[in-house]
Amino acid sequence: MALKIGVLISGSGSNLQAIIDEIEAGRLDAEIRVVISSRPDAYGLVRAQEAGIQTVALSKDVYADYETANEAIATELVHAGCEYVVMAGYMRMVTDPILMAFPDRVLNLHPALLPSFKGAHAICDAYEAGVKMTGVTVHFANAEYDKGPIVAQRAVEIAEDDTLDSLEEKIHAVEHQVYPEVLQMIAEGRVTVGDDRKVHIAPRG
Ligand code: GRF
Repeated sequence: MALKIGVLISGSGSNLQAIIDEIEAGRLDAEIRVVISSRPDAYGLVRAQEAGIQTVALSKDVYADYETANEAIATELVHAGCEYVVMAGYMRMVTDPILMAFPDRVLNLHPALLPSFKGAHAICDAYEAGVKMTGVTVHFANAEYDKGPIVAQRAVEIAEDDTLDSLEEKIHAVEHQVYPEVLQMIAEGRVTVGDDRKVHIAPRG
């Protein structure tokens, strides 16, 4: 049975699009039950609507109180029958009401190789630091920002002629591959968080 997911966005939603495309291509056995945006003007909402997916847009004032906002989001996700929550460029904090409703079931995508370059400007921070290798991390979210158990990582080389723009492009291209792949592994029931708080991935079949 298809993995039921809810996707949280705040912006362009290119990762949401990658997930939609992989589902439509039959390579990802998942169903997006709802897309929730922290901004009513997020372009990702248009992508979701074009794909016929139910959307919820939250206004800025909802976030005046984070607990209430997170309770409202958790209720929407549970209501929509989601099994996993997929953060895709969601720029707000996910707190207890969501984390407790979906323990070890909230995924985040970070555009660097954690634990390096945490925070909201990871691509730029890595570029400015002059590292030769950065990448992409998919991890389970927990109460500590950018710190939950890591599911997958991919390296991206920073070449001599890379600009910040070209690096961003390379990172996004890798994100668009790795996020649907992780979701497919979860759909296949191969991903567990062990007592050691590390993610273990069973071989296929
Ligand atoms: C991605 O780079 C992701 O790693 C970061 O926010 C960006 C979202 O892009 N957390 P999009 O909205 O999916 O295009």
